[in-house]
Amino acid sequence: MSAEQSKPKGIDLASGVSPDAVSDGGMISGHAGEDAVLLARRGDEFFAIGATCSHYGGPLAEGLMVGDTVRCPWHHARFSLRTGEAIGPPAFNPVSCWRIERRDNKVFVREKLAPAKARGAAGKAERVVIIGGGGAGFAAAEMLRREGFAGDVTVFSADDAAPYDRPNCSKDYLAGNAPEDWMPLRPPDFYRDQSISLELRSAVTDIDVKARHVTLRDGRSAPFDKLLLATGAEPIRLDIPGADQPHVHVLRSLADSRAIIAAASQARRAVVIGASFIGLEVAASLRARGMEVHVVAPESRPLERILGRDFGDFIRGIHEEHGVIFHLEQTATAINGGTVTLKNRATLPTDLVVVGVGVRPRIELAERAGLKIDRGIAVNQYLETSAPGIYAAGDVARWPDSLTGEDLRIEHWVVAERQGQAAARNMLGQGYRFSDVPFFWSQHYDVPINYVGHADRWDDLIIDGDIKSRDCLARYRRNGKVVAAASIFRDLESLKQEVAMEHPA
Ligand SMILES: Cc1cc2nc3c(=O)[nH]c(=O)nc-3n(C[C@H](O)[C@H](O)[C@H](O)COP(=O)(O)OP(=O)(O)OC[C@H]3O[C@@H](n4cnc5c(N)ncnc54)[C@H](O)[C@@H]3O)c2cc1C
Ligand code: FES
Repeated sequence: MSAEQSKPKGIDLASGVSPDAVSDGGMISGHAGEDAVLLARRGDEFFAIGATCSHYGGPLAEGLMVGDTVRCPWHHARFSLRTGEAIGPPAFNPVSCWRIERRDNKVFVREKLAPAKARGAAGKAERVVIIGGGGAGFAAAEMLRREGFAGDVTVFSADDAAPYDRPNCSKDYLAGNAPEDWMPLRPPDFYRDQSISLELRSAVTDIDVKARHVTLRDGRSAPFDKLLLATGAEPIRLDIPGADQPHVHVLRSLADSRAIIAAASQARRAVVIGASFIGLEVAASLRARGMEVHVVAPESRPLERILGRDFGDFIRGIHEEHGVIFHLEQTATAINGGTVTLKNRATLPTDLVVVGVGVRPRIELAERAGLKIDRGIAVNQYLETSAPGIYAAGDVARWPDSLTGEDLRIEHWVVAERQGQAAARNMLGQGYRFSDVPFFWSQHYDVPINYVGHADRWDDLIIDGDIKSRDCLARYRRNGKVVAAASIFRDLESLKQEVAMEHPA
């Protein structure tokens, strides 16, 4: 998605400001000519970079400065204040960087600096094969080139579209509020210019770990020196009568999202089975299209298992305010032509059914190749599997989490992208330990929920602020330690909590 560029406003930084205009560790935004600029200070050092996040346009001055980096308040992307490089997804594009001049006890933002070049040639000229063109696979390929890797990079993707903004498939894109050109992570030229061989509609069926080659469904084979498995996860399909009909959809890919959009244009009523994040985002997007939407789910409160009781009630409330009709503590037992039958024998008339009942990691390739499996592909802190030189990242990988000491497998966009980058660095021999605190966001109408850490259970939950007023930070604690935090419109606190979790006492 392209970031909307801010119009210049505020202080004219090109005309110079007093050093005291920015506190130590602080940031202000202003402009230099037509460009919106962030001026940051660390001790006596000043930095000037673009003020607008290159992901979805978040205001970087409202984020958090950490060392010589800044984190975006909206979805926690990270930028170098020294170069403008996007050093942490979900952003990949750099922001501009300006030269600073200090003169006459003033700080001036001078000319824009040339963008940083790819780092010098890294790693041996080997052949890297990446299986999967989603968040993790794309991030790995991009990072290999950013680090100056000069060998072959081939991405095999079963998808028919080049890497795209998967989270948007249930949000603005599905709601009809995001144009097509927001979806690709990079334009087609990028792959050509970076000599990344992106092979779409190319499913890998086997990995020969000893002979070091992969075989594709169409019979081709490709040798590799280093391999990344980034095959993501598969939506779970319902095993009930009628679930295989054409008006019953799952949502994983851009093609799935387009199929739902096409069906919605002919439909008036929809039943969403599952009150998962994706299920609820689909419900919101179909309401935005003016459809009658029913949500069927076995739990008594949506998302209670992940966010707790109070959040669950709040989320149910906002969806009801927008006209969603819930059928909780219910399951679907059959789907007939135009109805969904529930366990209590009620029938819901519908033209369109979307099933959002979770996913399972695509581990079959790894299993067949004899890699160690543990409810996902088991990897170490360097994201290397049980076979040397073969890595796994994203929804398929289970890795040792440094905060909790537990092995985690998480289905988050930002985690997948950061793991893809970490695996790429390790293929280049950088010995990069993956220790990022997990992060995800979810959007329900005008309410964004940001979540850092991971808590599948907790001893207590402390809520600062008020969920109903849409102004809160909830901390989930286990054994006296904060293991996760969910927030609504408390972006700075969410970022501070993330940093605190990176450096537990
Ligand atoms: C609709 C939707 C909304 C979401 N919203 C959010 C959100 O708001 N926030 C959040 O944090 N997360 C969200 N997620 C989850 C997030 O998208 C995933 O965690 C992330 O995409 C995982 O990245 P990945 O690279 O591991 O897998 P994927 O992005 O799923 O990519 C897997 C790739 O592997 C390919 N592949 C699979 N098998 C093979 C094979 N055998 N050969 C070749 N290619 C193969 C697939 O075609 C695909 O290209 C959402 C997911 C969906 C579906
Ligand atoms: S807008 Fe900055 S990370 Fe999304």
